[in-house]
Amino acid sequence: MSTITYPDFYHPPKFVLEEEIDSSLFTGRKEILQRLWDWVLNIDRKLSSSIALMSPRRYGKSVVLARLFNVMYSSQDRVAPFYIRISEESWKKGDFADKYFLTFLKQFCAFFLRDDELLKAAELTGLHESLSRHSADWIPEAIRQIEVYQRIGQSFEYWDKKMHFAQNAPNELCAVTGKKCLVIIDEFQDMNRRLYLDDPKTLLEKIVTGAYRSLAESKIAPMLVAGSMLSMLSRIVFSGALYGRFGGMPLPLMPEAESEELMDKLAAAFEVKMIPATKKYLFALTKGNPYYITYMVDNSFTRDLAQKESPEEVYLKQTTMSTGRFYGLWRLHFTENMELLNDDQHGKRILYYIRLYPK
Ligand SMILES: Nc1ncnc2c1ncn2[C@@H]1O[C@H](COP(=O)(O)OP(=O)(O)OP(=O)(O)O)[C@@H](O)[C@H]1O
Ligand SMILES: [Mg+2]
Repeated sequence: MSTITYPDFYHPPKFVLEEEIDSSLFTGRKEILQRLWDWVLNIDRKLSSSIALMSPRRYGKSVVLARLFNVMYSSQDRVAPFYIRISEESWKKGDFADKYFLTFLKQFCAFFLRDDELLKAAELTGLHESLSRHSADWIPEAIRQIEVYQRIGQSFEYWDKKMHFAQNAPNELCAVTGKKCLVIIDEFQDMNRRLYLDDPKTLLEKIVTGAYRSLAESKIAPMLVAGSMLSMLSRIVFSGALYGRFGGMPLPLMPEAESEELMDKLAAAFEVKMIPATKKYLFALTKGNPYYITYMVDNSFTRDLAQKESPEEVYLKQTTMSTGRFYGLWRLHFTENMELLNDDQHGKRILYYIRLYPK
């Protein structure tokens, strides 16, 4: 029997990382959070290997990663959480390395020094100054890393070196200081789609994730990755350079009790009327997908879901109207990934049959 006392995942004392949703709306995910927590504690014993949190789109991976970071940051003192999300903008590789290294170092230092002010550092020089005021025995090593990094040249021929240094930093710093860290990267697959090797950003670096080949095997700074493009992420972490480095942890749909709890919170927040039958209907319709639940309740069509026909009408409007949430999600998905889907024999065939038999 497990002897672990889990922290309160729903009321972390601090929200160091801003969550995408109103934090009070965060619901459920108890089982996966407990599994992740067990795994986090095992990092301290060097027993955890890197994992990829896997699910189709909008199951709630990003929300879980952000909450895990916030709980890790304030509810234990052994394993530093480092979180970075690959955003949609494109980056010069050197600039991205700067951001990656600074983000890692300030989160790592803020965690072990219990000094949230460090999180505000906008550049390495400022962080260097703030760290000099601390006296923990590992600070000289962190400062040394900053100084070595700052000595690497700025021009494009040094970008690879900077990125290599930044990617290695968590493992390096942990190895020298005896500390542990978790590297959380959301939208991991996008690392291969956003970094450019030249100034006008014409040469895309397509193999950034391959550089994690040995890092992903680290037991002192393992990785937890997720991403919205399931097939691309699977291809990256379960084959090629990273083959055998990652275990997969599936994020399932929400069970009925958690789904209903989310519906209750949303109904209260958006002042939407529901009766028990509405909840049963919504669960049957959404199968416990938190995104679909959210936008069935938070809709711009009606605040009265207690009427028998209302949920179905809302679903139709969200799915078929050009202003509908579900319509927008899938339109974006198909336009963004048209090239990939066209590349895929099965994807092409599926689209063809959907067009032939739209009902
Ligand atoms: N545990 C939760 N509690 C409350 N709302 C949630 C929860 N999980 C997900 N949601 C809702 O679903 C939306 C989608 O969640 P999220 O962005 O985390 O999914 P995702 O799996 O990361 O999606 P993608 O595959 O597109 O990256 C959130 O913006 C939120 O509205
Ligand atoms: Mg996500």
